[in-house]
Amino acid sequence: MKVTIDGQEIEVEAGTTILQAARMIGGESVPPAMCYYSKLKGSGGKCRCCLVEVAKGSEADPRPMPKLMASCVTGCMDGMEVNSKSSDRVKEARESVTEFLLINHPLDCPVCDQAGECDLQDLSFEHGKAKSRFIEEKRTFEPENIGPNIQLHMNRCILCYRCVMVADQLTDNRVHGVMDRGDHSNISTCISKAIDNEFSGNMIDVCPVGALTDKTFRFKSRVWFNKPYDAHRECTTPGCCGKTTVWMFGDEIQRVTGRKDIYHEVEEFICNECRFDHKDPADWVIEGPREFDKDSVINQNNYTQKLDTVQIATEEGILKGREQDRKKISMPAIPLDKEEEDNFKHGNL
Ligand code: SF4
Ligand code: FES
Repeated sequence: MKVTIDGQEIEVEAGTTILQAARMIGGESVPPAMCYYSKLKGSGGKCRCCLVEVAKGSEADPRPMPKLMASCVTGCMDGMEVNSKSSDRVKEARESVTEFLLINHPLDCPVCDQAGECDLQDLSFEHGKAKSRFIEEKRTFEPENIGPNIQLHMNRCILCYRCVMVADQLTDNRVHGVMDRGDHSNISTCISKAIDNEFSGNMIDVCPVGALTDKTFRFKSRVWFNKPYDAHRECTTPGCCGKTTVWMFGDEIQRVTGRKDIYHEVEEFICNECRFDHKDPADWVIEGPREFDKDSVINQNNYTQKLDTVQIATEEGILKGREQDRKKISMPAIPLDKEEEDNFKHGNL
């Protein structure tokens, strides 16, 4: 069947969603997606970032759809015509969704480990407003320790459910989920049980914001000060591909993640042993620098880039991975006053 998105026609198979068709076309017509994740069954339909205008329903029924549709859960029909980037209605809706998501999201990008690879940061950059109309108090939560490897910052969560789906689909024992309703909804473990399943670390990779971050990497560096390399090892954990991206500063592996595609989705999931326990470069076969297609501050540090260099006002030479620069890129090395220290300890920063 044929579908047209922003004037570009493409042939797709029955069952393809509008978002998937847009990704086949690529470029600026691809709607942003904060909750859909191609590797997780049943994801999508939560965040409303991917709204599009269906100007013609199908060849058989050409009437336009009256409401904007979530492209990640709306199937293509033969002859369908869709407006994404080209529609002012869509643009306005994306701005509204961005504003809505930011109502309770803290603006703590300067201390958030997700900064530089955060989907909400990208969405705000494209569709956000410089000022907030929200004058009420933001939602806050008591800090909760969810285990030795994953740091939960509930106030950053946008309730996309991706981490719940990872727990449901990759682990055999889901111990966390969304508790309560409405603006009290929060991600939590039942009776504070630790999330210690061998594949639980993938929640960090799928989280579109900094709500779930890697405790072994926490505050160590900004992602753009690391050099990403593709690496692999003979992993014996059943279900783990052993193929990762290792993020290095000098000779040190500061963190390990799954390999992410242009939409920030991992190609294959990895186990916790690969992610958290192998920080020695000798454990890995380093294949070469990781290539990123999408423009990002991470590209500043990536000498394989095909795009223009992203300029960040930073000290010359700091990207060389020298020992004397280690303190400058690491937050724990910065002296704090008492109040800031308490905030760090209680996870409020
Ligand atoms: S913690 Fe992250 S992945 Fe989980 S629901 Fe919240 S935003 Fe989504
Ligand atoms: S990506 Fe479609 S609703 Fe979230």
